[in-house]
Amino acid sequence: MSTGFPVEDYLRRVAAQVEPRLSALADARAGKGPPRLVEALRYALLGGGKRLRPALVLASCEAHGGDASDTSLAMRFAVALEAVHTYSLVHDDLPAMDDDDLRRGRPTVHKAFDEATAVLVGDGLQSLAFEHLLEGGEPAAARLARLLAANAYLMVEGQARDMAGEGQRLSEAEVTQLMATKTGALLAAAVSGGALAAGASAEAVHPWGLKLGLAFQIADDLLDLTADTATLGKRAGKDAAAGKSTLPALVGIPEARRRAGALLDEALAAVAPLGPRADALRALARFVVARTK
Ligand code: IPE
Ligand code: IPE
Ligand code: MG
Ligand code: MG
Ligand code: MG
Repeated sequence: MSTGFPVEDYLRRVAAQVEPRLSALADARAGKGPPRLVEALRYALLGGGKRLRPALVLASCEAHGGDASDTSLAMRFAVALEAVHTYSLVHDDLPAMDDDDLRRGRPTVHKAFDEATAVLVGDGLQSLAFEHLLEGGEPAAARLARLLAANAYLMVEGQARDMAGEGQRLSEAEVTQLMATKTGALLAAAVSGGALAAGASAEAVHPWGLKLGLAFQIADDLLDLTADTATLGKRAGKDAAAGKSTLPALVGIPEARRRAGALLDEALAAVAPLGPRADALRALARFVVARTK
């Protein structure tokens, strides 16, 4: 459903703000550390991607009346979160996990470099993310670092559930817990961190951020079943082949679509009281479900 808000333009603007900062994370080590590692960090960080999590951080900060400008704490959190997300993708693609050779339309990091480098890129990105977030030394930065650390750990738990769930028939409650942790946690951290950076309550925002995160993973699982590799920039049809426990596999495509729509509606209802300054946030929430890649 189009609401007239130019969400693609908003995402492009965020990418243009965030990408030089992601580049700077890697470049800070240039001339100091091993050049191949710096090259692999840059490859991982700058290979495209929707930059949805940074956009949600900044839009949530704006929706709560905060400063989301280039020099803001919200921007540092947005960059740190995208770095953690990038680490999660690099490790997710490893042969020991999903064994993928294509990401964002290019060879995965372990294909373009090697497995050890991909492990180290993920490890390194996590440290660089927290160094960047904490570099201002404000008390609010420490609160955001705690939020990011806790949710990044939940992502790890979710990835463990995802791997253990291969070839298993999990219950709906178990699949929901899997999705809420592996993906929901970082999406919820985006919107609750944006609120926290604006001086608002993270706790008030987290529950609907989690709903949005569930909707996001259902959309990802639906796209794996219905979209093509060229559009996705990653191999389609892999979840069924790997015996992944997804909601569409459990309840079917139409019902999974309906659930994603219902979760979106719940998230939008929670955002409603924020009024017009939450227009970007609302548009991004719709994009989570309506996206084609
Ligand atoms: C993919 O996330 C990984 C999941 C959590 C499903 P995105 O779809 O946001 O990936 P990029 O960042 O746009 O490549
Ligand atoms: C991965 O979920 C979630 C992460 C924590 C990276 P998927 O394995 O479904 O993500 P894609 O489809 O490879 O992007
Ligand atoms: Mg995976
Ligand atoms: Mg994967
Ligand atoms: Mg997937």
